[in-house]
Amino acid sequence: MDISYASSLSKTDALALRYGEDSIPAAGPWNDAIALLLSHRSIRGYRPDTLPAGTLETLIAAAQSAATSSNLQTWSVIAVTDPAKKAAIAKIANNQKHIEQCPLFLAWIADVSRNQRLGAEEGVELEVMPYLETFLVAAIDAGLAAQNAVIAAESLGLSTVYIGAMRNNAREVGEILGLPSGAMGVFGLCVGYASPEVANEVKPRLPQDAILYRNTYGNRAEPQLRAAYDAKMAAFSVRNEMSQDTWTKRVLGRMGKIAALGGRDKLVAALHAMGFPLK
Ligand SMILES: Cc1cc2nc3c(=O)[nH]c(=O)nc-3n(C[C@H](O)[C@H](O)[C@H](O)COP(=O)(O)O)c2cc1C
Repeated sequence: MDISYASSLSKTDALALRYGEDSIPAAGPWNDAIALLLSHRSIRGYRPDTLPAGTLETLIAAAQSAATSSNLQTWSVIAVTDPAKKAAIAKIANNQKHIEQCPLFLAWIADVSRNQRLGAEEGVELEVMPYLETFLVAAIDAGLAAQNAVIAAESLGLSTVYIGAMRNNAREVGEILGLPSGAMGVFGLCVGYASPEVANEVKPRLPQDAILYRNTYGNRAEPQLRAAYDAKMAAFSVRNEMSQDTWTKRVLGRMGKIAALGGRDKLVAALHAMGFPLK
């Protein structure tokens, strides 16, 4: 899916793919960049083909062009191509096979260590370092940067999937990647060419009425909106994942039991050990 394919869809078709025919929002201004954004889908199967020379640097230039809180730039990224390291990360992330398949795996790092080194070199104690706010700034910045890289990749006809399961064992990921204190891998990103046999349908989202409020939070029709979305997601999952699963069932499965966190329930302890006191 590259920018020329995305722009070949009409606005109505692109919105119908994202929301379903019955929930098309009254979107106004439109252009090719927006069409590309609406064509996003995560891809979980990759061809082994390598990326054209300079692709990594292009993606990172896009990533570094994202806004960054106070220009602190408290994130780093590690391009992981070593098969042994990818295999070790895949093992931590529930054996997700696409991590080993993709030619480029990017580990996005919330990284206050560089600015910590700056403070040490300048002989100044950076008092804000231990605070939760500082970690949050770093994690938000890493997310914004990564999403710019995703959009750039998709515009070039590449596919991606984020890997939050890398946090199942943040400390081990830190060891694999040689992270210093004050650096934590917040998520990974597989980048490559989609394997032709994997599902690549645009996944519908909640209708805008369920998430866009005007002036005051809430929508009394939320239960009806959820029921309608459940029907759409059940049909989507039959088409793409061979099982019938509503959104409600997915949320309950993912958020109902601590076991679904896959070890991430111990993240605070891991962060403390990795140099983030989170005061
Ligand atoms: C931070 C983050 C972490 C994610 N982690 C995983 C993951 O570990 N494995 C996976 O297959 N998908 C992962 N995803 C992808 C989501 O499942 C996907 O974005 C969501 O189902 C919507 O589908 P779409 O991206 O195709 O629209 C992650 C997405 C985000 C934003």
